[in-house]
Amino acid sequence: MKPEVTPKVPAGTKMMALQSPVGLRSVVSYLVVFFIVASSITFLFNRGQEAQVRMVVEHGHQEAQVNVAAAEHQQQQWGADLQESSDECNWSTGRWVYDNVSRPLYSGLECAFIFPEVACDKYGRKDVMYQHWKWQPHGCDLPRFNATKLLEKLRNKRLVFVGDSVNRNQWVSLVCMVEASIPDVRLKARIFNDSLISFKAFEYNATIDFYWSPLLVESNSDNPIIHRVTYRIIRADRIEKHASVWRDADIIVFNSYVWWRKQKNETMKVMYGSFEDGDERLDEVEMIDGFEIALKKLTEWLGENIDKNKTRIFFAGSSPAHVWASNWGGEDKNKCLNETEPIYKAGYKAPTTDYSMMAKAKSHFATLEKKGIHVQILNITELSDYRKDGHPMVYRRQFVPLTKEQIANPASYADCTHWCLPGVPDVWNEFLYGYLMYR
Ligand SMILES: *[C@@H]1O[C@H](CO)[C@@H](O)[C@H](O)[C@H]1NC(C)=O
Ligand SMILES: *[C@@H]1O[C@H](CO)[C@@H](O)[C@H](O)[C@H]1NC(C)=O
Ligand SMILES: *[C@@H]1O[C@H](CO)[C@@H](O)[C@H](O)[C@H]1NC(C)=O
Ligand SMILES: *[C@@H]1O[C@H](CO)[C@@H](O)[C@H](O)[C@H]1NC(C)=O
Ligand SMILES: *[C@@H]1O[C@H](CO)[C@@H](O)[C@H](O)[C@H]1NC(C)=O
Ligand SMILES: *[C@@H]1O[C@H](CO)[C@@H](O)[C@H](O)[C@H]1NC(C)=O
Ligand SMILES: *[C@@H]1O[C@H](CO)[C@@H](O)[C@H](O)[C@H]1NC(C)=O
Ligand SMILES: *[C@@H]1O[C@H](CO)[C@@H](O)[C@H](O)[C@H]1NC(C)=O
Ligand SMILES: *[C@@H]1O[C@H](CO)[C@@H](O)[C@H](O)[C@H]1NC(C)=O
Repeated sequence: MKPEVTPKVPAGTKMMALQSPVGLRSVVSYLVVFFIVASSITFLFNRGQEAQVRMVVEHGHQEAQVNVAAAEHQQQQWGADLQESSDECNWSTGRWVYDNVSRPLYSGLECAFIFPEVACDKYGRKDVMYQHWKWQPHGCDLPRFNATKLLEKLRNKRLVFVGDSVNRNQWVSLVCMVEASIPDVRLKARIFNDSLISFKAFEYNATIDFYWSPLLVESNSDNPIIHRVTYRIIRADRIEKHASVWRDADIIVFNSYVWWRKQKNETMKVMYGSFEDGDERLDEVEMIDGFEIALKKLTEWLGENIDKNKTRIFFAGSSPAHVWASNWGGEDKNKCLNETEPIYKAGYKAPTTDYSMMAKAKSHFATLEKKGIHVQILNITELSDYRKDGHPMVYRRQFVPLTKEQIANPASYADCTHWCLPGVPDVWNEFLYGYLMYR
């Protein structure tokens, strides 16, 4: 067995607030900007072929006796649990119930594949209540998560999470939720390959992947590590480079939210056509309109390429950040620092959380229904909105050494966007599990 290799975890996952570029009013400034944009696009879109592929394989499986073909007969046993979840109950509305007996679902200190940016207890978080909350929908229970059953469901299949670092957070959560059920380290592995990170359960020939694609369509932010760019540019009609990675998947979970949120006054650049074909055109739109452009392209691709008999598609709902403490009566400058309990107010929806984006996604995907393609929304927004206590804050690995000013002001670098594990994304995966198994 190989020793565990230090994972190459994508750094700099926090979103950057970007200054809006100089207005493109005069011809001169337009040309200058266009030149910068053009060179960065050419650079970024050409680097695909020559980019060095980074790969780390952990827990090499050479010695493992893998039993791939076993056990179709186990499927029949699943029927028994069907009653756990009534069909019409809304999982999205409910409340958090403190339950230190059945939660957490796994140990963050023991999960072999946790990422240091969400491993809060490993990085000094001492309060533990945040790990002990169970989501209780009104009127029904979420199906009880069973890792073995999920792996059986994923036998000979590939599940891919496609999106940004919040989706990667959900992927890490699912990997931790299942990996404990495979104690033999030779039977599981994590493989880093550029924008793709794979978790493999060899005995089941099951793959759970994460693929970095924060804006869904091709963009100049597609490098999983270096994506702090001065201008965000999406390509309105290009998705194939990404789609080729998830085309053969059996289950796909998309997300896309935080990257379209305005921090200040920034806009999205949209490129149509291509330099190669000489029909390139550059536009500048509001972020939210960029989101719709990307959704439109994704929807179109799904409609033309998805085999509805084979592939199940999910869209993970907007994951709220808790950087505006005045939402719950705190001071904004403290962000989510030292929050140890959820917001208890029933029906709470943060004014800073944009619920309309998910509705927009839903209406785009609804156009696929006539082709028999159903995109299931994982509506986890409200339940996550309550959880101001769920974020890493300062309890995570810092990839860049902190400055004196930062140390003096922890709120300045507190992460109130991603989620500690074990924690809130485990529930998102309970939704996913519930849909895969029972709906
Ligand atoms: C936002 O940017 C636009 C165009 O770039 C500019 O006209 C407008 O004044 C800016 N608004 C603010 C509040 O900065
Ligand atoms: C309940 O679920 C249905 C269908 O999923 C949805 O249309 C409706 O908005 C939900 N109701 C509430 C109160 O969230
Ligand atoms: C769970 O919480 C209760 C009440 O806070 C406490 O009395 C009990 O010891 C806790 N149990 C465990 C296993 O931590
Ligand atoms: C999970 O499912 C497996 C296979 O169906 C079963 O043997 C096991 O008892 C289940 N575990 C729990 C905790 O229910
Ligand atoms: C293993 O899983 C892949 C999907 O990830 C599938 O294409 C392949 O056919 C499976 N192998 C076997 C032997 O079933
Ligand atoms: C890494 O990804 C590339 C394409 O993105 C693929 O061609 C290659 O086979 C992958 N390597 C491994 C070892 O999976
Ligand atoms: C999908 O399944 C339906 C019903 O089982 C069948 O009629 C149809 O031909 C299948 N479509 C494809 C593309 O395999
Ligand atoms: C957070 O807790 C630390 C340690 O108890 C304390 O020094 C700091 O003032 C607190 N910060 C806020 C914003 O509550
Ligand atoms: C998601 O759930 C919330 C709370 O139940 C509801 O208000 C919202 O309309 C739902 N959104 C979608 C797109 O279904």
